[in-house]
This record gives sequence, C-alpha cells and structure tokens, in this order.
Amino acid sequence: MKIGMLGLGTVGGGVAQILESPSGRSPLLPEIKLSRVAVRDLAKSRNVCLPQGIFTTQPEEVIDDPKIALVVEVMGGIEPARTLVLKAIERGKHIVTANKSLIAAHGSEIFALAKDKGVCIAFEAAVAGGIPIIQCLKQSLGANRLRAITGIVNGTTNYILAQMSREGVDFEPALKEAIEKGFAEANPSADIDGIDAAEKLAILTLIGWNLKIDCPQIFTQGIRSIKQRDIEYAKRLNYTIKLLATARIEEKNSLCLHVQPHLVANSHPLASVNDAFNAIFLEGEPVGSLMLYGKGAGAGATASAVVSDILNIVGNSSAFPVLPTTSFQSATCSQEAHSHFYLRLLTDNSPTAAGGITWSLGMFNVVPLSVQQNLTQEGLLEIVIVTQSVFRSTLDNAIRSIVGLPYFKEVANILPILEA
Ligand SMILES: NC(=O)c1ccc[n+]([C@@H]2O[C@H](COP(=O)([O-])OP(=O)(O)OC[C@H]3O[C@@H](n4cnc5c(N)ncnc54)[C@H](OP(=O)(O)O)[C@@H]3O)[C@@H](O)[C@H]2O)c1
Repeated sequence: MKIGMLGLGTVGGGVAQILESPSGRSPLLPEIKLSRVAVRDLAKSRNVCLPQGIFTTQPEEVIDDPKIALVVEVMGGIEPARTLVLKAIERGKHIVTANKSLIAAHGSEIFALAKDKGVCIAFEAAVAGGIPIIQCLKQSLGANRLRAITGIVNGTTNYILAQMSREGVDFEPALKEAIEKGFAEANPSADIDGIDAAEKLAILTLIGWNLKIDCPQIFTQGIRSIKQRDIEYAKRLNYTIKLLATARIEEKNSLCLHVQPHLVANSHPLASVNDAFNAIFLEGEPVGSLMLYGKGAGAGATASAVVSDILNIVGNSSAFPVLPTTSFQSATCSQEAHSHFYLRLLTDNSPTAAGGITWSLGMFNVVPLSVQQNLTQEGLLEIVIVTQSVFRSTLDNAIRSIVGLPYFKEVANILPILEA
C-alpha cells in the first residue's frame, strides 16, 4: 500500500524512521511504502533519509495522488489539517492522525464523512502518545460497562509537578526549567491551563461512552494555582499533586467531567506516575480497575501509535473495527464532583480563626477530617483542612459563608482528593 504523509516533524520523522527500518517489526511493514511527504520547508535538514523526489510543499499533491490509499496527518493544528483530511476522505483515502485538537473539535464531521465514503479513520496517537488506550477502549474492554476514566494525560504538567515536588521549587522556576529542557512549549498555555488534557478527555469520552463532548463543557483548571506550600502540605498528608483528567458515570447516568489538579493518595497507582510519563486508570464492570502506563509524547512513542494504526488499516483486521461510528449521543454533563477536598485558607493570626472556620463549614455539613495551622512568614495564619466527602457546590456555599468572617483573608487553594 502506498501512503502519503502531511508533515515530517517530530512525529512524522519517527513514523518515517519505523517505515524505513521494518526488520524485526510487523511482517506487514514491508508492504507499506511512503511515497509522498508534504512539508513547509524543503531545505530543512531531517533526521531521516528519504528520496528528495517524494517531498512537496503542496499538501494537495499528497491527497490528490490516486496511487496513495492512506494519508497520515501529522502536521498539527486545525487548519489546513481539517480541510486536507476532509478532502482526502472525499477522494476515498483512509486517514491516520495524531492530531488531538482536530479530533476533539471536528471528530464528528470527519467520522460522518469517513463513514459515508467507507474509509477508516484512526487516531491512537492523539491521546497519551505510545499508550494504546483507544484500541484498548474500543476492542479489549468492549465487553465492559465503563464506570470511570482517570488519566494523567499531559506530560508537561506532570513533569512540572514532579520537579516542584522533587526540587522544592515553585511553579514559575519549574516551568522555566521545563521550557529550557524541551518538556514544555515556548507558549505553554495549552498544557499548563489544562486545555490539552481536556481535548484528550473529550476523545476518551467519545470512545469510552460514545458521547460527544465539546471541550468547553469540561470543567478545566490547570496547575498555575499550585504553590510549593500545597506540594509540602500534600506530602505531609501522604498525597501527591497530579493534574487529572476525569470522566465518571455519576448517579442518574450523567457523566461528571473535569480536568483539575488533585491530591492523589500515595497508595493510588497514579501517584507514582512521574516526569513526562502518562497513565490512564480505568474502572469497568466486570473487569474492575486497571492502569495503562507509558510515554505520552516524543517521536518514538507517538510514531509507535501512528504506525500501529496504519498496520491495523493495512491488515484490515476484522477484530478491530476502524471504520468510524457516527451514532454519538449528546451527554448529560455535570461538573459536580463529589470527593474529599483539601482547603488552604489564610486568616489574620487570631486564636478563634480555626475554630470559627470549622464551625462555619460544619453549618453546611462540610465536616473537617483534619485541621492544621501554621504561621506564615508574613504573620498570617495558614489553615489547612481536609474535608469529608462533599459535593463541590456544597463546599462552595460553605466557603462563601466564611469569606465574610472578620479575620478571613484568602482562599489560597481548594483541590479535590483522589483516594486509593
Ligand atoms: N510531538 C509529540 O510528541 C506529539 C505527541 C502526540 C501527538 N502529537 C501531535 O502530532 C501532530 C504533529 O506534531 P509534531 O510534534 O510532529 O509537530 P512538528 O514537529 O511541528 O511537525 C509538523 C510538521 O508539519 C509540517 N507542516 C506544518 N504545516 C504545514 C503546511 N501548511 N504544509 C506542509 N507541511 C506543514 C512541518 O513542516 P516543516 O518541517 O517543513 O516545518 C513539519 O514537518 C500534532 O497534531 C501534535 O499535537 C505530537
């Protein structure tokens, strides 16, 4: 099968390297020939040696080539990727893409056209890089009723949080170091503000429950608010702070979705996922709990997922239905998480502050399980409370009642807790 590729950057380069060195891999690989590659800059040096004649700066030449049966889209961004993918499908070509933004925002449109044209669309690399989570949800766990997906799906934020914990540094220096070491983009907003994780969660929800979610429906909070004080308190309480993307079936079959930093109990498997690694913890009936762990980004891991998609399409594996489903339902979405919470509050150094606050919280049935207080360098009282399990809205009502107290200064942080 002749394939074309849109892009030859980090991921495309990794894909080409695998295709150019098939020995010891799938016996199907030698049947795949990379015959056209679109890039922006023909003069750029590449880490893979391909015949000069296959390059073009005109992506249309790839999708118009009648000999190409499958197009790999690894150029990124929404446009022109969306238009090119739709045109390639119109011309009857199968699509493999690593583009999470494209699938999260335009998946339904792309799947509908692909179904109409009878072509496959595969996007294993779009979520958690080298971890085969899409195939796992579609195929290996197909017998299960999925209850929850909880993932560390953004390596940049996981690296920053791990550095803050290891080195005792605050968020800003940890981010600066992550940029210098290439773990974060020069413009890191999509990662640190949770947008990238929300896009991946939307894709997981689509595959896991057949539910179409628009990213703005997902409550999304990044890691900018995490201070070294929170990391230290979490350690003292036997937790580790992680940015989690969570989808959970709640009562009345509504789906609770959020991307938020959590205090994760050190005994939970997700607590030990460090640096740029990703992991996805799944709960299903009857399988119970399981976790997939691996590299969520990088040329090799991501290319592994892209090439496995190509192989699935080329092999036309009857066990793996790569033809798209289009019968997605709209979800009843809730952002109303129910959990224990960690509160870090600042007050004047008043002997009655901690008692007054816990009493006020109790008036709303928010029961403190533990209370710690310390004097800050600025002479304020820092009160850290772990609550019993409550709805977030109940907690918010209780918090509103304490901000009016005369000695109250600031809600420094509120984070949900994931117990083991
Ligand atoms: N990097 C990762 O670890 C990773 C992990 C998971 C998913 N992804 C996804 O994979 C996709 C690719 O990421 P990447 O890191 O490989 O990006 P990248 O390194 O920036 O590479 C993009 C490639 O696309 C080419 N390109 C961009 N716009 C083009 C245009 N208009 N016409 C022709 N060629 C164009 C570029 O050409 P030039 O080389 O000439 O500039 C480059 O080769 C993205 O959707 C990303 O979200 C990446």
